[in-house]
Amino acid sequence: MARILITSGPTRQYLDPVRYLTNASSGRMGLALTESALAAGHEVVVISGPVEIEYPSAARVVPVVTTDEMLAAARAEFAACDGLVGVAAPCDYKPVKIEDRKIAKTGEPLHLRLIETPDIVATLGHERAEKGTKQWVVGFALETDDRHYRAVTKLQKKSCDLIVLNGPEAMNARTNDVEILDRSGAVVAKLAGRKEDVAKGIFDVIQGRLISATR
Ligand code: C5P
Repeated sequence: MARILITSGPTRQYLDPVRYLTNASSGRMGLALTESALAAGHEVVVISGPVEIEYPSAARVVPVVTTDEMLAAARAEFAACDGLVGVAAPCDYKPVKIEDRKIAKTGEPLHLRLIETPDIVATLGHERAEKGTKQWVVGFALETDDRHYRAVTKLQKKSCDLIVLNGPEAMNARTNDVEILDRSGAVVAKLAGRKEDVAKGIFDVIQGRLISATR
């Protein structure tokens, strides 16, 4: 049995008390991967941004709102886990300043100054590589152009073992169409269909190539 950390869903970065930036993500792929991992007899910790779906009660769920909160929770939990599946869509930008009061309309354009948020998969991927642990990391990439090249570049930059490549059709949809690439850039699996079935296929690859390999 492995202990698996799954980051899932979107994060939010508030501009003022009522408005926020976010990413389009339902958390459904994270939910389906959680179910596959539990069905295979593993322990699952899910760190999730705000979602409408409900995760199975057999998983321990850590709710977060912002990307920094997701990173802090992921760092704390990953120390006691064997691997990470980073399927969340964390918001990549945050405002330099969060206004305490609702920004009032003036009729003029509103200029926002945004800075990048930390990359959770990259942070955990690099940290485990530096420490030389046996932990494994699986990332996701949503690409429209030069899909394989961009996905493998992302895998290397984020120090992942495998990367799951999907297209924008995956967002908020009930189906998905993915390819799984390894560190050499080889396509090790192609999967299409309901997210539940695709998640089961992804999890079988993780089980065969990463979990069994590190036991
Ligand atoms: O946004 P991007 O295409 O770089 O995301 C690819 C992978 O990185 C996904 O697995 C996603 O969960 C992860 N990611 C992250 N933290 C971010 C942005 C992306 O963990 N701030």
